[in-house]
Amino acid sequence: MMPLVWSLVRTTEQAALAAWPKVGCGDKNIIDGLAVTAMRQALNSIPMRGRIVIGEGEIDKAPMLWIGEEVGNGTGPEVDIAVDPIEGTRMVAMGQNNALAVMAFSPRGSMFHAPDMYMRKLVVNQKAAGAINLSLSLEDNLRHVARALNKPLDTLRMVTLDKPRLQPAIEEASRLGVKVYALPDGDVAASVLTCQHDNQFDVMYTIGGAPEGVISACAVRAFNGDMQAELIDFCQAKGESTENRRIADSERSRCAEMGVDVNRVYALTELVTSDDILFCATGVTGGDLLSGIQQQAYGLRTQTLLICGADRTCNMVNSVHS
Ligand code: FBP
Repeated sequence: MMPLVWSLVRTTEQAALAAWPKVGCGDKNIIDGLAVTAMRQALNSIPMRGRIVIGEGEIDKAPMLWIGEEVGNGTGPEVDIAVDPIEGTRMVAMGQNNALAVMAFSPRGSMFHAPDMYMRKLVVNQKAAGAINLSLSLEDNLRHVARALNKPLDTLRMVTLDKPRLQPAIEEASRLGVKVYALPDGDVAASVLTCQHDNQFDVMYTIGGAPEGVISACAVRAFNGDMQAELIDFCQAKGESTENRRIADSERSRCAEMGVDVNRVYALTELVTSDDILFCATGVTGGDLLSGIQQQAYGLRTQTLLICGADRTCNMVNSVHS
């Protein structure tokens, strides 16, 4: 994957730059559309035979890079791609922090291929690797992680998303004395912040998008962290209704077609089977992980986090686009 590094950096930069002028415009679809168009154009100039194995768009009917879409200029290595042109479209639309353009590459056949649906995810860093089991309760997991880190439970820091479906988890963790950081959106950044060496959080537990889960898995693997994930259907995430049941049934039949199971716990080694990954994220609006785009005298400055699994490096790339 290493020869693709610079092209990948330029791709997330281009998506972020395309979305940035619309920060605060209030319309998620305009933002996604601009980022998707820029990303597709950049991807198609890369010497690779790429395939989108998991991407966004189906849950909220946003513009998308289709699952199964072939990208690249048709020469070079065969690459699996997980993509979220803008992770935090709502944050860009509302002028809020922590929005990223993000994608991950791995060798063909090594990335989890699933529909865009909800996924339950649990992430820890390398010090607690092996201590998680998503088949157990959240309470058991928090206790096991605290023990692995040799920390009292009331100093453990759990990051999650502030969504109605996660209120029971937030209450359960709070009841144990765990410090809960409930972000409005953005579980990719939360996963990376959990795994980095100066980690801001000890554990990430969310129910969010499956594409974000697979992208995160690539970073978690490169950091030697640990992750488990479970696909859940729309009714399990959002509750029963006729419309939700229709969506859930179609998700379940798509999973059957793709050969993946709903309500089965997948290990990190099943989410991405190779260490040769690239993870790349460019900040659109500033946040804990990355600075947002800034207008400077000589042009627009972007900041990109590039993680390479092959040589276990983490690079911050500051670029000025004049
Ligand atoms: P998008 O902006 O790409 O939709 O992702 C933002 C996000 O918060 C993800 O981090 C998370 O996985 C997902 O949305 C949660 O889904 P929902 O917005 O439906 O609660």
